[in-house]
Amino acid sequence: MPDEKSQRVTIPFLQAKKERNEKIVALTAYDFPVAKIMDASGIDLILVGDSLGMVVLGYENTIPVSMEEMIHHTKPVARAAKNALVVGDMPYFSFHLSEEESVYNASLFLKEAGAHAVKIEGASRRRLKLIEALIEAEIPVMGHVGLTPQSIHHFGQFKVKGKDVDEAEKIIQDALNLEKAGVFSVVLECIPKELAKLITERLRVPTIGIGAGPYCDGQILVFHDLVGFSNGYLPKFVKKYVDIHELLHRAIQEYRDDVREGKFPADNHSYHLKPELLRKLIERDAGSSGKKKGK
Ligand code: KIV
Repeated sequence: MPDEKSQRVTIPFLQAKKERNEKIVALTAYDFPVAKIMDASGIDLILVGDSLGMVVLGYENTIPVSMEEMIHHTKPVARAAKNALVVGDMPYFSFHLSEEESVYNASLFLKEAGAHAVKIEGASRRRLKLIEALIEAEIPVMGHVGLTPQSIHHFGQFKVKGKDVDEAEKIIQDALNLEKAGVFSVVLECIPKELAKLITERLRVPTIGIGAGPYCDGQILVFHDLVGFSNGYLPKFVKKYVDIHELLHRAIQEYRDDVREGKFPADNHSYHLKPELLRKLIERDAGSSGKKKGK
């Protein structure tokens, strides 16, 4: 059990998992029912990712996601998660202006939404300074390097990072700098597995991989990819455990046909009036409509 009294997964518990060589299991969630199932299934960490924008809100990328949307979706996840550690993802431009505003925005994830930590993409010098300020404000931070989707317009496209020596070296340095700044964990996204192994061995804090191979201390996937919510393109690193798109499509078509053909609702889906009450009702109704006519 994570914590004897509360059962809550804590940051020291995640750290101990790395030391014991036990994998950390993480997933994204954006609503109450899914987070509840994850929590009951023993998921260690639930990230309310800004992938929300793409998989739930229908945006083309994560750039338009607002603080309001993130807080709105973090609240039900935090209400559902009785055991898992809940991390809120700071959306684009919620941590790019002043340090003061960024710390305030991060605090809303803890104070208003009930998360236990925040995640921030990138490791620029300014970002590292901000991470130190967040930790000073008692806000635990998860780092994120490799492919950072909020930099999509800078990168041009989503593709594997760290495939040449210079880029790989920079990612290692970024991860080390994040650790020095005080993050409790680092997400490694879309990098070669050999690079993820090197970083995982160099860091004392756990690495959580997505598209980073099997050597990370933990793994995370976007829930909607794991269950096959989309029938479009899926990156190579995704394993689809169920085809929920197909299941839902079939169920909804069956419902449509049942309604059109008068098969649903059937008698067993209907409430009934006792025959004597029905008789009285018809008599009363006939009486009152006769009175109205006589008026
Ligand atoms: O937004 C998100 O879901 C993420 C994960 C992919 C790590 O950042």
